[in-house]
Amino acid sequence: MIRQWLHDRMPRSLIARVALILVLPVVTLQLVVSIAFVQRYYEDVTRQMTHALLLELRFLGEAVAAAPDRPTALAYATSIAAPLELDVALPAPAPLAEILPRWDLAGRAMAETLHEGLPDLRAVDLSEPRRVAIQMATPQGDLRVGFSRRRVAATNPHQLLVLTGVLGALTTAVSYLVLRNQVRPIQRLARAATAYGRGRILPFRPSGALEVRAAGTAFLDMRARIERQSQARTAMLAGISHDLRTPLTRLRLGLTLLDDPEAEDLVRDVDDMARMIDAFLDFARGDAGDAPEAARLPPLVREVVEDFRRTGHAVALAPLEGADPGPVPLRPLAIRRALENLIGNALAHGTRARVGLAFGDRSIRLTVEDDGPGIPPDRREEALRPFARLDAARNQDRPGVGLGLAIVADIARTHGGTLRLGESADLGGLRADLVIAR
Ligand SMILES: Nc1ncnc2c1ncn2[C@@H]1O[C@H](COP(=O)(O)OP(=O)(O)OP(=O)(O)O)[C@@H](O)[C@H]1O
Ligand SMILES: [Mg+2]
Repeated sequence: MIRQWLHDRMPRSLIARVALILVLPVVTLQLVVSIAFVQRYYEDVTRQMTHALLLELRFLGEAVAAAPDRPTALAYATSIAAPLELDVALPAPAPLAEILPRWDLAGRAMAETLHEGLPDLRAVDLSEPRRVAIQMATPQGDLRVGFSRRRVAATNPHQLLVLTGVLGALTTAVSYLVLRNQVRPIQRLARAATAYGRGRILPFRPSGALEVRAAGTAFLDMRARIERQSQARTAMLAGISHDLRTPLTRLRLGLTLLDDPEAEDLVRDVDDMARMIDAFLDFARGDAGDAPEAARLPPLVREVVEDFRRTGHAVALAPLEGADPGPVPLRPLAIRRALENLIGNALAHGTRARVGLAFGDRSIRLTVEDDGPGIPPDRREEALRPFARLDAARNQDRPGVGLGLAIVADIARTHGGTLRLGESADLGGLRADLVIAR
């Protein structure tokens, strides 16, 4: 539960997380130090300074108490107060109320010390920022004394806090800049990997910290190996198909020359084999096909649909969903082939097909639906596998290798997407969604 809570609230990006990890302890430390240490320190200093003043106030109070009458008392008080930089008034102009602002912790400590040391003290007034007024009871009436606050409290106790705050902000800014440079190689690696997932090879050089560089090098090794493998696959399949074609052509020629009715079946078999070889070549060429470019999808889809219509097929085009973002990076020939495969399947199993195009925030969906029997959910995964042909009996009269959907799935993958099979809600047959990343 706590993990889920943390997971929901943790910032997403690496830089924000590291900042949090760095800033949180520093801020906590500063708070603890300033509250526990700084505050106590200033309070102690204030108490000591107040204590020194206390002696003078006591002396003043005793002098006033010793005077026989009020004028003498006032003369005593004035003569003592002047060199000590105290203002005195006797009698006090008005009763004084105790005013101690809540946030003024040093002031409260001072008032406390004064009350403890001067039993005759009536009130302390800290309502003025720089001056303190107190009132004491004497036999000659209330005595008002005023003095500068600097005499009893350390000045500018907040300077240290301001300084730490400014320094903290400065170091945070510097570490943010440094950190951003550390994150950049990771972002570059992510970009290169994403692009490769969509079939594009971006120039990439590992950089940054040791661990990041290691990941980058591993990615480059992996990419090179995959490239080598797919090139080897293409070369091998192309070679085999090419080498097989010549003897097949010879075989077909020989069979037709035999002029035997039995041989007709064999000629058909040979034709099937030739078609399969073409399909292999197609499949092998799959991801080595055309280069990615920025192309607009709606005209491309319309063209494919028109091509099928011209040959007399019932293919409808559903209205466009979402806003057309203009050209998007894709392999136009591959997308065209994928669409042709899906529509070909739809027409082979049903009587009519409908093609839809939808633009989402992060993905683009091409949908082909038909009114055929569809594929039951538990066999859909199997249908995507190369050479998989479901329901062999039903398919026997239709030529096919079972590579069509595998090729489409491959094309989807090289565009950073997937091929999903489902059931068409309107037409009742298969619904194939080719989803590609934007
Ligand atoms: N629209 C569809 N309706 C019903 N079943 C389908 C549909 N599309 C494909 N299938 C089933 O999935 C299997 C695999 O399809 P896939 O396109 O990969 O091969 P194929 O059409 O048999 O041969 P190929 O396309 O290579 O000529 C098909 O044999 C068929 O049984
Ligand atoms: Mg097919």
